[in-house]
Amino acid sequence: MIHRQSELIKDIDELGVSEELLKLWFHSRYSTSKHLLILYSLARGIGKGKFLEIGFGRSTFAFLLASIQSGSDFTCCDAVNYPSEIPCPEYDRMYFVHGNSAEIWNTSVRYDLMFLDYFSDQSMSMRACFWELVSALKHLNTHGILAIHDTFDHRYSVKKTIRLIAFLYRLDVVTLPFNYGLTLLTRKGVPNFGDPWEKA
Ligand SMILES: C[S@@+](CC[C@H](N)C(=O)[O-])C[C@H]1O[C@@H](n2cnc3c(N)ncnc32)[C@H](O)[C@@H]1O
Repeated sequence: MIHRQSELIKDIDELGVSEELLKLWFHSRYSTSKHLLILYSLARGIGKGKFLEIGFGRSTFAFLLASIQSGSDFTCCDAVNYPSEIPCPEYDRMYFVHGNSAEIWNTSVRYDLMFLDYFSDQSMSMRACFWELVSALKHLNTHGILAIHDTFDHRYSVKKTIRLIAFLYRLDVVTLPFNYGLTLLTRKGVPNFGDPWEKA
């Protein structure tokens, strides 16, 4: 069950996949509330691209909206088949993988923006986190952004693992220290996304 799932269903029913929905959630008290507009902006900034999220939830609707607006491809993966429980007509605009992250790592698809949100598990070892992140980096386009949730909470191994990965793979790291933390990883010295003044 997703955090306050019946409320989520009601919100989607009333506002649809919209900017109003994201603004409503921004003012709420969810673990990702202050990250949803950031993820949406990253996706919109990239423009037409390929987005991946592992861990269905409110963030899915931020990616869904950005994908609809920019004509991007969006893949969402979760071990639980949440879309079958949470109605939304816009699901035909995303590709849902019902399964483990390994199902994604077994493909050869590369992404421009990836959001991993399944590390808030105190039993998850640094070794397990490490292999998830290494696998993810193999699927990240050269200019891509890897966003990871729950990275500012010392209870989770992902916090330390990111430091190690960033060092080994020469990545630029920004960790936003609110909610439970959102880290953005990019490769050092990659070209930018073209004309910064192009209209959104
Ligand atoms: C914290 S929730 C995601 C929250 C969501 N991103 C949001 O914004 O509300 C984590 C989700 O990851 C899924 N999950 C955990 N480990 C996974 C794995 N290895 N592969 C795929 N899904 C996984 C769980 O089923 C759960 O739905």
